[in-house]
Amino acid sequence: MIKINEHYLKLQASYLFSTIAKKINDFCEKNPGRDIIRLGIGDATRALAPACIAAFHQAVDEMARDETFRGYGPEQGYLFLREKIAENDFQSRGAAVDADEIFISDGAKCDTGNFQEILSTDITVAIPDPVYPVYVDTNVMAGRTGIARDGRFENIVYMACTEKNGYIPGLPEEPVDLVYLCFPNNPTGATITREALVQWVDWATENKALILYDAAYEAFIRDDAMVKSIYEIPGARKVAVEFRSFSKTAGFTGTRCAFTVVPKECMAYDATGTPHSLHSLWNRRHSTKFNGVSYPVQRAAEAVYSEQGKKETREIIAGYMKNADRIRREMDDLGYDYIGGQHSPYVWVDAKTDSWDLFDMLLTKAGVVCTPGAGFGSCGTRHIRLSAFNSFENVETAMTRIREALKE
Ligand code: MLT
Repeated sequence: MIKINEHYLKLQASYLFSTIAKKINDFCEKNPGRDIIRLGIGDATRALAPACIAAFHQAVDEMARDETFRGYGPEQGYLFLREKIAENDFQSRGAAVDADEIFISDGAKCDTGNFQEILSTDITVAIPDPVYPVYVDTNVMAGRTGIARDGRFENIVYMACTEKNGYIPGLPEEPVDLVYLCFPNNPTGATITREALVQWVDWATENKALILYDAAYEAFIRDDAMVKSIYEIPGARKVAVEFRSFSKTAGFTGTRCAFTVVPKECMAYDATGTPHSLHSLWNRRHSTKFNGVSYPVQRAAEAVYSEQGKKETREIIAGYMKNADRIRREMDDLGYDYIGGQHSPYVWVDAKTDSWDLFDMLLTKAGVVCTPGAGFGSCGTRHIRLSAFNSFENVETAMTRIREALKE
């Protein structure tokens, strides 16, 4: 008899953003013609930068001729892209990362979800609350947790991120082997200081623990003096893996390209305490289960690092951040407490009411989609997340509609 992985039964029936998409579709079916403004899922709305499009076209043309056609590429990604990433995203900021420590993939969602696979199932995992739901869900699927009670799974150490601690998780007070950190944070938009990150790296070093550092939103950090990569912190190469993405940085949500950095010194241990290179293990997993991102997409991603590409992607991000400023201004006017939106495309609003109720109210009355905070963890049950991914005009209209709906 074929049997299922019963750990899946512990999960909510559907993934957060699938549930929301279904609710929106149902609403649209019942209200045909109703104009909906989506400030929910963080999905890019601006066209790809012209530099990326030109590189994309050129690479497609190469695929059209036998002489320049490419079949399977390296599973880890083409060196032309890995070298540009190493130089521009890390070495230029004093973070020692080599091109062969970078693994190109089709998304940070897959990488943050898959990385736990090369770690033992009997480790203790600490996860911020609220946070991107993929970290919790994939650990549930792997069988590292018990069942959920009151929105929290047994055997996960939840690190509450609230106004009290400035939405920055404190170091665990109990033994923990694996920690997920995400900065700028999804959903709160909070950023971490260099000093706080030093504490985390020191803690991981002392405890032979591992940090999975999700920096998918680093491009939204507006102050260049702030820490963007965990490898700017001394010692991090031994204890941290970092995830990055072109999705939000360069609008590749539909194009698909991301990468994970696994430094060669980064170790995890077997049952006898012998260290093993995570780089080797991840390379083994990646080359077995993944066949690389398509050549034209990698060329388009490479173009992000050209002078023209840098300028154009900076302008796209500045456009989204103008939206974030507009959302923050509106929340100020409405008297809501919030965080984020300063170095992040997300504004985390303390709605002081049930987050799903407010989601429903904003959808039905204002025709505006937000993300209910409950979907990111039990600390989010009274928050909503507003995303800056849309046109300025739509954000402006959405803010007016929210104001009107709240008056009613
Ligand atoms: C989000 O809205 O949280 C993100 O778009 C989800 C993702 O990147 O997978």
